[in-house]
Order: sequence, then structure tokens, then C-alpha cells
Amino acid sequence: MSSVLFVCLGNICRSPMAEAVFRHLVSEAGRSEEITIDSAGIGSWHAGEPPHIGTRTVLRENGIAHDSLVCRQITAADFAKFDYVVCMDEENLAALKRIAPAGKTIYRLLDFAPETGEQNIEDPYYTKRFDHVYSLVQAGCRGLLRELG
Ligand code: 4NP
Repeated sequence: MSSVLFVCLGNICRSPMAEAVFRHLVSEAGRSEEITIDSAGIGSWHAGEPPHIGTRTVLRENGIAHDSLVCRQITAADFAKFDYVVCMDEENLAALKRIAPAGKTIYRLLDFAPETGEQNIEDPYYTKRFDHVYSLVQAGCRGLLRELG
């Protein structure tokens, strides 16, 4: 058994996209029973809302379900509950390190996709490049699934 929590700033663009993509890949691999998957935001501004229309659109275009996704804020309990806390960029990483228990490793999704040559996934809430973000999220999620063996 393992567990993965994807985290971004708002939990309406990048981390719900990663949750949906990873859920899809894990299901295709027949491993849904073994891997717990969720996402959360550092901020609470959008709690209770569905993902951003840009994220819903790119997921729908790629045949990936997103109906069950509801925005929530990360809690202290999440650091104990999830083996892998996986964020999107260096700002998320710095914010999470401030609130995580000492010794907890925090990952960035592109740690698992060195072939992209990138470390951070830009925020499409501002850049609007949802297709570009989707391709990076796909690469990271594929690498993460390999990491989980
Ligand atoms: P996300 O994008 O972190 O990828 O979900 C954002 C969504 C909302 C806000 C910032 C980033 N916001 O400031 O409301």
C-alpha cells in the first residue's frame, strides 16, 4: 500500500489535474486498490469548489474523469497520512516545508520526470497554458508511478 497527496497553491488547477491523471494511470495499471490518491491546496480560497474550467476542459479533452474532485486545504494530519506529498513548484515546496513535521520529505512532481528538463510546473491560473501544464503533469505522473514500482 502507498499513498500520494498532490499539492498546489489553490487546489483548483494543477493538483486536481495531477490527482485525476494519476488516478487514471493507476487504474489503467490495475493498481487502484494499492494506492490512495488525493489532492489539496496550500490556501483555502476555493475550498468546496470543483476544479478550474481550464483543468476540467483539458481533462475532458484527454478522456480523464474529474467529476469527483472537490477543492480542500491541506491539514496537519495529511503529512502523517500520505507517504508522498508531491507539490508543483518551488513556492509550494517552501510553503510546505514551513508547515511539515521535521524530517518529512516533500517532493515536486517533476522530480519524477527529469527528462522534461524542468523542475517547476507553472501556474496556469495565471499563464492559462493548461495544455502545456497537462503535458508536464502527465510526465510527472508517469514517473511517479514508475517510482512506486
Ligand atoms: P493552482 O492555481 O495552485 O494550480 O490551483 C491557483 C488557483 C487559484 C489561485 C492561485 C493559484 N488563487 O490565488 O486563487
